[in-house]
Parts: sequence; structure tokens; C-alpha cells
Amino acid sequence: MKIKFIPAKDAVEAGRLGADIFTQTMEENPACVFGLATGSTPLSLYSELVLRYSQGKLDFSLVRTVNLDEYIGLPADHPQSYHQFMYDHLFSKINIHPRNTHLPNGMADDLESACWEYEKMIESMGGIDLQLLGIGLNGHIGFNEPSDYFPKYTHVVDLTESTREANKRFFTDIREVPTQAITMGIGTIMSARKILLLCTGQKKAEILHEAMFGKVRPQVPASILQFHPKVIVIGDEEALSVIRRDHPDFL
Ligand code: PGA
Repeated sequence: MKIKFIPAKDAVEAGRLGADIFTQTMEENPACVFGLATGSTPLSLYSELVLRYSQGKLDFSLVRTVNLDEYIGLPADHPQSYHQFMYDHLFSKINIHPRNTHLPNGMADDLESACWEYEKMIESMGGIDLQLLGIGLNGHIGFNEPSDYFPKYTHVVDLTESTREANKRFFTDIREVPTQAITMGIGTIMSARKILLLCTGQKKAEILHEAMFGKVRPQVPASILQFHPKVIVIGDEEALSVIRRDHPDFL
């Protein structure tokens, strides 16, 4: 099936359109499983979900969530951990039950077992109904960095310099950016029943085009999404600019 592109004017509108897809998923199943993402891109979507909740339009009491990834070595209450990010931007502002929210444990003594337990937990929840994704400047999804193969399951990954460089804005110094993370695998992500890729800003325009229309290859991890039966891409004008130039019939 063809990837569905939904153009948005800007990041705020992209967030609203993304929230519509979350809302629809919750209407279909109030106990749905959302796969969630961190980073700058999902912030407008999370703000919109919080707004709709505060207006009494959404009820998260039965919703369950699993996050894509977490740094290794940052405790859950570290200001830059993804546990803290999710708490600050979403979980503390809606009526989701903490026991229904899940992120990989980057502090586990046995990281390999933690990865496998995470994978099993997702399976025991019945899988992911809607997986939210951003895309890295190098084409990563979750922390699945460019590689010579597509990792199937949740695993430990060495972060590339490009990713650490992109994320250093959240830390005082690049030396503080962790060098490893736990991430859902490409297989874990591809098992989600529906995928929503949000992409905003001019600097993502080339990689988004390459991922959606280039050759499917592990050097561009997001390119695998071309093989998923239900992918929706919401992009703002800037992020979709190269696709609009080269494949206008898709927009
Ligand atoms: P960003 O990160 O939303 O902060 O650009 C996306 C990603 O790296 O997956």
C-alpha cells in the first residue's frame, strides 16, 4: 500500500493532525497501545493531546504506552532521560496510570535481559496499535542507527557521532551525551499495526525524501517503512519540500 502523506502548514498543525490520529485510535479502542517517541518533533502533538485532555475530550485511563528508546546510564529521574521527558511533556499532564507506561530500562545490570523482557512485554500487551516516530538526520528511527543490517528486536546500540551531536543541545556538553541506548528493533517497530511518522523542518527534507522514495536499505533505517502496510507521514511544508518537488503526485 502507498504511504499516505498528510501535509501540514507548520509544526503546530502537524501536531494537531497527529493528535487526530491518536484520538481516532483511542475511539476505536480505549485500551489501545501507543508506541511513543521523544525528541523535539512530537512536542506539538503531545501539547495537543494534553489540551484535548484538559478540555475533557480524551480519557487515557485505560491507554497503555511503550516508548521507543532510552539512554543507557541515565537514571529515570535524570533531567535528560526519556523517562523524565515523557513525564514532563505528557504523563504528568494526563490521566494515564504510571503502571501503564513503559520505557526501556537503561540502568539495568543485565541490559541484554532488559531488552528481551521489553520485547516480551510488548508482545504480552498484544502489540502496538499506533507507533509514533520521528526521523533522525541520518535516517534513524528510534535509535536504530545506519547499519549494514536491520536489527530485529529491542537491543543495545552505540549512538553515532551525528546523533550525539544532534542531541547535545539538551546537555551542557557533548561529553555528557550518553554513548549507548536501548532501542526497539526495526522488527519491533514494523510489527506495529499502524505507524505515524512526524517530520518537521527544512533540515529533514532530504532524508525524508530518501527514506520514503530511495532504495530500502539498512544504511537508511527509516527506508524500511516503505514495506509497512499502514504508514502515515505528517510533514510540514519545509520537511515535505523535496518530496513536493520530486514527487508532487504523492501530496
Ligand atoms: P528530533 O529527533 O525530533 O529531535 O529531530 C528525531 C529523531 O532523532 O528521531
